Amino acid sequence: MGVEETLKALKVLGLGEIYGLKRREESPRRGGEKDKRRLLEEHFRSFRDCTRCPLHKHRTQVVFGDGNPYSPVVFVGEAPGEEEDAQGKPFVGRAGRYLNRKIQEVFGLRREEVYITNVCKCRPPGNRKPTPAEISACFPYLKREIDIIEPKVICCLGATAGEGILGKKLSVTKVRGQTFPYPYNPKIRVFLTYHPAYILRNPRADGDFTEDLERLRELID
Ligand code: URA
Repeated sequence: MGVEETLKALKVLGLGEIYGLKRREESPRRGGEKDKRRLLEEHFRSFRDCTRCPLHKHRTQVVFGDGNPYSPVVFVGEAPGEEEDAQGKPFVGRAGRYLNRKIQEVFGLRREEVYITNVCKCRPPGNRKPTPAEISACFPYLKREIDIIEPKVICCLGATAGEGILGKKLSVTKVRGQTFPYPYNPKIRVFLTYHPAYILRNPRADGDFTEDLERLRELID
């Protein structure tokens, strides 16, 4: 057996890594899967003790983004609620369970297969809306997250996320289903729809939300 065949056989047996046959995409210089995960880990480590805004005084922990950094779509919500603050993961409460169901229904994907984050990474007391000052203080963290992931589309869940990202006032009922250029990278589009918590309070809007997600699916297909 020649060297090449031997190496191939070892790879089949799962011994490739021992013999230096690491998958190409794991090489940091080639921009593979491990790279984005590693970059995100480093990024998150850099602000886990953040005190840029008063929300740090009330939080249990900073809630980082979660999911697949290779997803063509990044869902962006408002800010963690009580359950997210306790578990350290975005959208794990009632609104999150609804969002997971819709992602499965419309995209046929599990939530781990897409990427989910918030414009504000710390829980506002009593689940109030984050203030514009809190959103601005947190924005560089989201921006870096988006720079690393570089998705095709950022899907803003609700006006707070959309306003934080686009830097202008928005009415979701007027602009839902539309896309806008992402101000910091011309390759990325910004899409707007309702916040899942709004649909839980207004179940009749579920059809509109489904319609928006179907449009989003067309954009990333
Ligand atoms: N609502 C949000 O906007 N984000 C979460 O993580 C949970 C609820």
